[in-house]
Amino acid sequence: MPVGTLVKMGLQELNALLATRRSTKSIAEAPVRAKELEDVLGAVFRVAPGRSRAYGSAHARYPVTATLIAGNVSGLASGSYRVAPSGNVHDVVPGEYRDIVARATIDGSWIAASPALLVLSADVGAENAEFNWQSDGRGERFIAMEVGLIAQTVSLATAALDLGTVLIAGIHADAARHLPESVVPRHEELIAVMPLGRASARTVNTSTER
Ligand SMILES: Cc1cc2nc3c(=O)[nH]c(=O)nc-3n(C[C@H](O)[C@H](O)[C@H](O)COP(=O)(O)O)c2cc1C
Repeated sequence: MPVGTLVKMGLQELNALLATRRSTKSIAEAPVRAKELEDVLGAVFRVAPGRSRAYGSAHARYPVTATLIAGNVSGLASGSYRVAPSGNVHDVVPGEYRDIVARATIDGSWIAASPALLVLSADVGAENAEFNWQSDGRGERFIAMEVGLIAQTVSLATAALDLGTVLIAGIHADAARHLPESVVPRHEELIAVMPLGRASARTVNTSTER
């Protein structure tokens, strides 16, 4: 959509959207539609001509890779998909990956039943090398900030579409290292996972988070 046709949101609408943002820790197994996920990913990752992205990045490097794990999505085969700067998904590797991704989190085993997962990863070594002139470990800090910006944008887009999500950043480093390249590209680390689906009434008790 050309930028000129976008309608700017007023403060009242923004406040209303922000008021609906919350972490959803009980997501129904029921399927979501591919179009719903497309809308979320488009809102967050799409780079329209002449427009900056929905989130910033130190030196505009955009080191965070987004991978969609589809498990119960009508109109999208189960598998892992990379999310392109168009917001579209590509490079599918068919299969069921939700369980191994869930097991790489500390208290997110329940997300294996979510219809889809958004996996966020980045090459921490490369970013540290890029920004070490500022300070040791600065690249890693910038990645964490960027993932925070992405996560808030995903949260708002899902809230606008009556979908639920939560940022799960408690990661088992060892389990994460064994994830296949189709889920976390080579040289990258798993930083966070966000389940995508419809909120269910069931309440999940997580061991480390409330
Ligand atoms: C950096 C960060 C890491 C988080 N990691 C986890 C996590 O590993 N597991 C989890 O269940 N929730 C996680 N959360 C979600 C928080 O538990 C949640 O944001 C908090 O309870 C406040 O609830 P609200 O988001 O509904 O306002 C994380 C949130 C943030 C910002």
